[in-house]
Amino acid sequence: MTEKYAILGNPVAHSLSPVLHGLFAKMMHDDITYEKILVESGMFSKTCADFFRLGGNGCNITVPCKVDACEFADNLTEYAKCAGAVNTLKKMPDGSVLGDNTDGRGLVNDLKRLGLNLAKEHVLIIGAGGAAKGILLPILKESPLSVTMTNRHFEKLESIREMTDERVNLVRQENLEPKYSLILNATSSSLMGVLPNIENRVIASSSFVYDLMYHKEHKTIFTEHAKKLGVKNVADGFGMLVLQAVLGYELWHGHAPDTAAAFNEIAKIAL
Ligand code: ATR
Repeated sequence: MTEKYAILGNPVAHSLSPVLHGLFAKMMHDDITYEKILVESGMFSKTCADFFRLGGNGCNITVPCKVDACEFADNLTEYAKCAGAVNTLKKMPDGSVLGDNTDGRGLVNDLKRLGLNLAKEHVLIIGAGGAAKGILLPILKESPLSVTMTNRHFEKLESIREMTDERVNLVRQENLEPKYSLILNATSSSLMGVLPNIENRVIASSSFVYDLMYHKEHKTIFTEHAKKLGVKNVADGFGMLVLQAVLGYELWHGHAPDTAAAFNEIAKIAL
């Protein structure tokens, strides 16, 4: 029987999730439909309940509904709990709805794909919003040499202090030193075409710079800025997008395409 999936959010018109899940289903010979559902303001709970009542098997959640989805789920994985946000919901055999957050593990898998061994990295995370919280636990699980977080408004990092422990250093932007081997931009600044206010001296040319946002030709304002400062190893969040979708696919179907094969197929359709 055809299984029914969707992405819920606002906006959703631009979403690549239907293309990615359609491609994975083709590769795995699964029979699915995947639609885009626009959620009007204040209507998440009703829209999502309707989707599952009408036979939905699972859905992805995008902005601004990830926190609402956390409240909607009957049960949460440890990743969703830690992030306080859900990007994937699944209807379980007993009728309950499970909420997961695959964003952070998608990022970690992409960093591995790019050849990084997080256990050998001094990691700097810029940002204190949902994206930054979502990646923290999966990164800590890889036992990096150190993890530092910074944010434009330092006070906002207080909420991170409550959810973590002494493994995470919270540092004001002006006190950062140029000692990070992996710099992750988890702010939404690239979306607005501006740089997070990190001093140039912090961005060592030997560091790996990764922007969680993605943009045409895999160039974001932050990765381009890093390149101008002499950084050779940069990446945008397109790989993270693909790999969080692979993890969501696995949660729903119990199997998923091989990562390298998935990237090969995606390259053919040149998103
Ligand atoms: P998301 O869920 O995408 O993380 P969010 O919760 O609204 O979105 O958080 C946005 C993050 O981007 C915050 O860390 C924000 O910094 P502040 O807390 O100081 O506002 C950061 N951000 C957004 N625009 C920024 C900018 N122009 N420069 C630096 N940081 C920015």
